Amino acid sequence: MTRSGAGFSRRAFLRAGAALGAMAAIAPSRTGRAHTPEPFVPTRTLTLTSGETELHLLGPDKPATRVYAYDGQPLRLLRMPRGTRLEATYVNGLDEGSSLHFHGIRMPNEYDGVPPLTQPLVGPGERFVHRLPLDDPGTYFFHPHCDETGQSGRGLVGTLIVEDERDPPFDLDEVLCLKDWRLDDDGSFLELTEPSGASKAGTFGQTRRVNGVPQLELTAPAGGDVRLRILNVDASRVMGIGVEGAKAWLIAVDGHALDPILLDDLPDGIWRMGPAQRIDVHLRMPTDGAPVRVGDYAAADIYYFASLAASGTPKAHPGEGPLALPRAELPFPDLDSAEFHSFTLQQATDQAVKQLGLPPDDPLSKALVASFCVGATTYWSIGQVSWATGNRLGLPPPLAVMNEGRSYRIQIKNETRFSHPMHLHGHAFAVLSSSKGRLPQHFADTVLVQPNEAVEIGFVAAQGDWVFHCHILEHMETGMMGWFRVI
Ligand code: C2O
Ligand code: CU
Repeated sequence: MTRSGAGFSRRAFLRAGAALGAMAAIAPSRTGRAHTPEPFVPTRTLTLTSGETELHLLGPDKPATRVYAYDGQPLRLLRMPRGTRLEATYVNGLDEGSSLHFHGIRMPNEYDGVPPLTQPLVGPGERFVHRLPLDDPGTYFFHPHCDETGQSGRGLVGTLIVEDERDPPFDLDEVLCLKDWRLDDDGSFLELTEPSGASKAGTFGQTRRVNGVPQLELTAPAGGDVRLRILNVDASRVMGIGVEGAKAWLIAVDGHALDPILLDDLPDGIWRMGPAQRIDVHLRMPTDGAPVRVGDYAAADIYYFASLAASGTPKAHPGEGPLALPRAELPFPDLDSAEFHSFTLQQATDQAVKQLGLPPDDPLSKALVASFCVGATTYWSIGQVSWATGNRLGLPPPLAVMNEGRSYRIQIKNETRFSHPMHLHGHAFAVLSSSKGRLPQHFADTVLVQPNEAVEIGFVAAQGDWVFHCHILEHMETGMMGWFRVI
């Protein structure tokens, strides 16, 4: 008996091909997509319901503010172990359309939460189920991806900590969520966007808060090791984080470990971070009881948002060097074979803005804007393309069409007078260089690009339609958003 014969070998070949294809579909971990076991078996199930609650932002004796929050808990905090298979059902308890986006998490595109690109808008009372593999440890956050200026501006933001059992032992692990609030004296919100802000550096809040209070007063053992997870969840403000009175190292950026860097060795001794950026800082408490302060040194008046007092008798053997986190296990792009693209961030002088006859305050155009999750006006563009706005509805073409598993190098050039924290969904990219030489190589999901600066990032493309936008919320909603199609 012979096994030869065109029919047999061809069928065998097809079968093998089908098997290979199936394997490729269930084991895409080499391509940069987070490893998703098939079928998805949730190990943690929860519901996140957006709604309103009261918060005393102005002070305990001052009028309260009606803020937006998940599950009635302002700045809701979730902690779960690495490896969790999270099934999170978003329930929209607001009386406007919304969605839920887990920022920085590598996930299948369909759960990314970006209407109208990856899912329809979640209407009032409606829900959407997200299935997320939480394989990358670190400090993340979540927020709506529709009218973020209005919804996140009113407080709709939460923190997601993916804990890693391999982490070194810290004596204290604190989450510090920085957000300014735009409040009137009676506790109500001022206009969250103004043209003078949206077309420039953003509209700023005057009530500076950390976890909703003016300052955190923490205690930690003398000589002890403290991990601060600092999140900039503000709409507009670029901060410069520094520490006084203790040795402090930058140990992670956007959740991802890097070789620890002494904060004092950074330019100006601070780490600049725009909206959506996060850092983990390891600070070692002094043994002499000297006070420790953590602040935003980029502000006109330094904003000290945390102070730490040492408690107890000093540790017998305080450490010397930093406690490094385990290295991030992320795909690094192959820079030799990477395809290169360059995009320029610009003010938009978009003729198309005038093409559609409807003025932005026309009720019909307002309704369209609401259903499409876009802002009213265009002020910004990426590579001369602007996201849809009230004047110009319709999805722009992708900035680039890419291939899954391929490496890309993207240069981001800033020709505007303002800084832009640029965020790419669905990936952890390598920050490769800054034309100002100010950035160490590190993994991130958002990178700050300063005026007249060119920053280069690289990544291995994961399948899906992923938005790429500035995280100054008014900038993204007035044009500074594009998308990559990865096939
Ligand atoms: Cu924080 Cu488009 O996301
Ligand atoms: Cu911007």
